[in-house]
Amino acid sequence: MPRIYLATTNPGKVREFREAAQALSIALDPLPRMAEVPPAIEDGSTFEQNARIKAEYYSRLSPGELVLAEDSGLAVDALNGSPGVHSARYAAVLQSGVALDQNSDDQANNAALIAQLKRLNQDRYTGKYVCVIAMAQDGETLATFTGEAPGELLTVPRGTQGFGYDPLFYFPALGKTFAELPLEQKREHSHRGKAFRQFLNWYGRQPQ
Ligand code: IMP
Repeated sequence: MPRIYLATTNPGKVREFREAAQALSIALDPLPRMAEVPPAIEDGSTFEQNARIKAEYYSRLSPGELVLAEDSGLAVDALNGSPGVHSARYAAVLQSGVALDQNSDDQANNAALIAQLKRLNQDRYTGKYVCVIAMAQDGETLATFTGEAPGELLTVPRGTQGFGYDPLFYFPALGKTFAELPLEQKREHSHRGKAFRQFLNWYGRQPQ
């Protein structure tokens, strides 16, 4: 079975990628030795730049292997696209005013987002999730794939599944937040699921 290494330690992402790969004849394995090196410095200004940075950096750990990395986040229209590439460290960035490397926990990020939204005092807050997957080998990006999911942000959390901003991310087409969806249903509609399907399409066309 062909193998792809997954270069992420985010448990929510790992769960979703592994669920997506379950029925496929591809082994999506955690990248060995990832914990032994300092984390990649995600200093790009776009999701694509950061996905490439991670894929290229971590692919050097396993010569010759295909390595999948992704960068993702939430972009809220009324916040000019924030938290954007700072989604994982939004609370810390708002507090310090600078782009720190240290991630904040989901609870702190959600509280920070709710506070920002409440200051705007609108009826609705539209936004989207974005995910860019980058595939790299030996330090070079081979391809990138982008998926987006449009939705609205709530100021009262709903649901217990998913991770990150999911309890606040309302998906009008289903009348539920992403935290109210089982993995399979989230994959069908999510930014990550869409990017992953594009990746599969590309992968299926590669000479094996
Ligand atoms: P990254 O690991 O630097 O790509 O940061 C991604 C961050 O974006 C996560 O820590 C979450 O805060 C947020 N995020 C991305 N995708 C999702 C999702 O599917 N659900 C909830 N939050 C997400």
